[in-house]
Amino acid sequence: MEKFFATCPRGLEPLLAEELRQLQAEKIHAVGGGVEFGGIFSLCYRVNLESRVASRILWRVAAGRYQSEDDIYRVACALPWNDWFEPALTIRVDVSAIKSPLTSLNFVTLKIKDAVCDKFRRLSGRRPSVDTRQPDIPIQGHLTERDFKLYLDTTGEPLFKRGRRVAQGEAPLRENLAAGILRLAGWLPGMPLLDPMCGSGTFLMEAAQMALDIAPGLGRRFAFEKLKNFDRHGWRELLRQAAARQKLRVPLPIYGSDLSVEALKATRANLAAAGLEHVVKLNQANVLEISAPATEGVIVTNPPYGVRLGEQRELAEFYPKLGDALKRNFSGWRAYILTADMRLPKLIRLAASKRTPLFNGPLECRLFEYKMVEGGMRGKKREEIRVKS
Ligand SMILES: C[S@@+](CC[C@H](N)C(=O)[O-])C[C@H]1O[C@@H](n2cnc3c(N)ncnc32)[C@H](O)[C@@H]1O
Repeated sequence: MEKFFATCPRGLEPLLAEELRQLQAEKIHAVGGGVEFGGIFSLCYRVNLESRVASRILWRVAAGRYQSEDDIYRVACALPWNDWFEPALTIRVDVSAIKSPLTSLNFVTLKIKDAVCDKFRRLSGRRPSVDTRQPDIPIQGHLTERDFKLYLDTTGEPLFKRGRRVAQGEAPLRENLAAGILRLAGWLPGMPLLDPMCGSGTFLMEAAQMALDIAPGLGRRFAFEKLKNFDRHGWRELLRQAAARQKLRVPLPIYGSDLSVEALKATRANLAAAGLEHVVKLNQANVLEISAPATEGVIVTNPPYGVRLGEQRELAEFYPKLGDALKRNFSGWRAYILTADMRLPKLIRLAASKRTPLFNGPLECRLFEYKMVEGGMRGKKREEIRVKS
């Protein structure tokens, strides 16, 4: 059995473990930032193609104890790199570490790169060259206090690059984080979904693809296609099966709106590039003024972050209005708001029923759940007070 490690945005590890279970992975074990799993080699094809939450699928090629860089060099040099790929391909080595006593990770990186090249040169007289921007074969090392692991990255460009985004908005979310949030929100295809601050439409795109059973990896390339063991026939068959199970692209109860014309242009372009323009309904509108497109449903959104001071002040005024608008116009709905602004939960003046810590890249965020209850007491009292004043 081969050993793999799937990385993901921190906070989504349990969801990724569940996804892997459904993909028939074995020995699943979630740790910070990812999930270890086992299976036959071709399992990594399926996981790369189907996982909506993973960022990369790494194939573990070595693990051991170390005290110095030389220990790692020796193990790396003993590996049959030439069985795995041709020296004409390019490589890049990345190393991450937690509590490693070694002082320079750059030096460890260099030693691993030397080991790979020295081994190739000894066996074939040729060595792979380094391409730090678009390597054919990305190699990863991970060190803890005494142990190290070496991986071949079977993914290449990270999985959140689905190959379908043609336009960026202001601070777009990563696709796998958006997909994970839709799952955390308990949204299921068929339920009305609204992102009223949709930006470039990441939630809408992910939801539409989930509803239509479009595999996230259809239409992009993967690093495993460059390995010597690449089973072209098996891979084509997986692609064929995934393409065959896609549902008909009919209009779905998935709604997006944004105040910005530019943002909507970006969403439209992204949806069109994915052939989903007729699946999602879009509208230019202020979130404070819209009405619910259905009697109940799920709102998933991430409001602007606000970097400058003026924007910070505007946001502090915006949050209570957002809370009021949700309560007034969306009774019967559940709202999930992702933010890194820890003032929001207080200023929105709604009681969160759940708070989930998540990371958007390095940025620590929270996903707040608000259940908009019809004619809720809190709402009534506030209305009365407002009428009086
Ligand atoms: C952080 S971005 C959302 C990014 C989006 N999730 C994506 O992945 O592209 C916030 C969006 O809120 C929009 N926005 C700000 N104020 C708004 C308002 N009052 N009504 C509707 N949209 C608003 C902005 O135009 C911006 O596109």
